[in-house]
Amino acid sequence: MIEVQVVAVREEGEHLRSFELRRTDGGALPTFEAGAHIDVQLPGKLTRQYSLCNAPHETHRYLICVLRESASRGGSEAMHALAEGGVLTISAPRNLFALHPAPAYSLLFAGGIGITPLIAMAEHLARNGRSFELHYSARGPGRAAFLERLRAAPWGDRVHLHFDDGPAHLRLDVAQALAAAPDGAHLYVCGPAGFIDHVFQAAEASGWDPARLHREYFSAAPSPVDAGEQSFEVQVASSGEVHTIPPGRSIAQVLDEAGVFVPVSCEQGICGTCVTAVLEGTPDHRDQFLSADEHARNDQITLCCSRARSARLVLDL
Ligand code: FES
Repeated sequence: MIEVQVVAVREEGEHLRSFELRRTDGGALPTFEAGAHIDVQLPGKLTRQYSLCNAPHETHRYLICVLRESASRGGSEAMHALAEGGVLTISAPRNLFALHPAPAYSLLFAGGIGITPLIAMAEHLARNGRSFELHYSARGPGRAAFLERLRAAPWGDRVHLHFDDGPAHLRLDVAQALAAAPDGAHLYVCGPAGFIDHVFQAAEASGWDPARLHREYFSAAPSPVDAGEQSFEVQVASSGEVHTIPPGRSIAQVLDEAGVFVPVSCEQGICGTCVTAVLEGTPDHRDQFLSADEHARNDQITLCCSRARSARLVLDL
């Protein structure tokens, strides 16, 4: 873990605030790849993930941007309560949304606060001479972050801004952007779940190879109330112990209480921290982290939210 100080707080738009973080000991921060995020520890034992949105070659600072959400679980409110001079504990960066190493054309789609990992990607691609375009959609200019930075960037001519309250001909036309992309292009999407699903469905309908589609969710789509949720058993392969998971409790919660270490972070099925191999049994996947192919293989599970279709799961723990 790394102790950092908030050295600058900036208003980036309506309910959007960025935080510049530097090490309290003045040293260099770990390098990071475009698309990476850090875990931020907040009061009340909250841990939240925020994408790094400064240029990835910088090691003197990290920049994150947080949308304050009234329906949040407390993380965004706690972040917005921070002032300059505040001290935070953060993790080293982790990347679950990396650029593909192939030097292919990159098509970046950001919706709202989803700009944060994609602006770092744009910085990296431009610095490394790789071709790309960035489509940024928001309800209006006041709801978009980093507009000045996007317009002033040396690669600003590759940015396309789309506002719901703007002229109709400037609104995002996903199908058109997909059709105009060169062969072999890779697609990267981040934003609200509905935005990501919209872009992915358009790409799939246009026959894009799933291996060229990449996404990162910021929050889980609301899960339908499952009135018929059943209890099931999980067996820890290393010890043979069997635990019952009742309705309304996650595998991760039950195992944690039983003293079985399960790393968790988002606890919403979007970050992948708790992914664990399944040795026997059939998961009932409820996450947005694993792909459809990975769900179909049924050989891994997110312990923070997914359940079981079979009476028992044997986990590689
Ligand atoms: Fe993030 Fe489970 S803790 S997917």
